[in-house]
Amino acid sequence: MEAMAELIAAARAVRENAYAPYSHYAVGAAVRAEDGSIYAGCNVENAASPEGLCAEAAAIAAMVAAGRRRLTAVAVVGGDVARPAMPCGGCRQRLHEFAAPGAVVAVADAAGRLLCETPLAALLPEAFGPGGRI
Ligand code: THU
Repeated sequence: MEAMAELIAAARAVRENAYAPYSHYAVGAAVRAEDGSIYAGCNVENAASPEGLCAEAAAIAAMVAAGRRRLTAVAVVGGDVARPAMPCGGCRQRLHEFAAPGAVVAVADAAGRLLCETPLAALLPEAFGPGGRI
């Protein structure tokens, strides 16, 4: 399977486990680490809404917990053509913390149809990162 299709498949699969009883907006995310390994996470909401977790944050946590610290791509599955699950501002910053140069973000719908594919840098221009502003 093509690399991005594989990442989208992982995000689709984990989306099935999303806990989104408040928004009913299920999201799955999968990051690919520099060594090719894949880590997935889903959104986990909370009755006290600010305590909810985005799918991207969960996937990043899984990657870091596994000892990887560099990601080359992320796939997010959620929403539809009219409202793709673009990473929120906070998650763009979280992704940037661990992103390899040229890291790519793909967003797909629940059927796996690609809605958007763009460099992370385009979603977070002039970002502040671990090495300072780039
Ligand atoms: N959400 C994500 O998990 N990732 C995104 O990229 C967009 C939004 C979640 C947060 C919340 O649980 C729900 O989607 C609705 O905002």
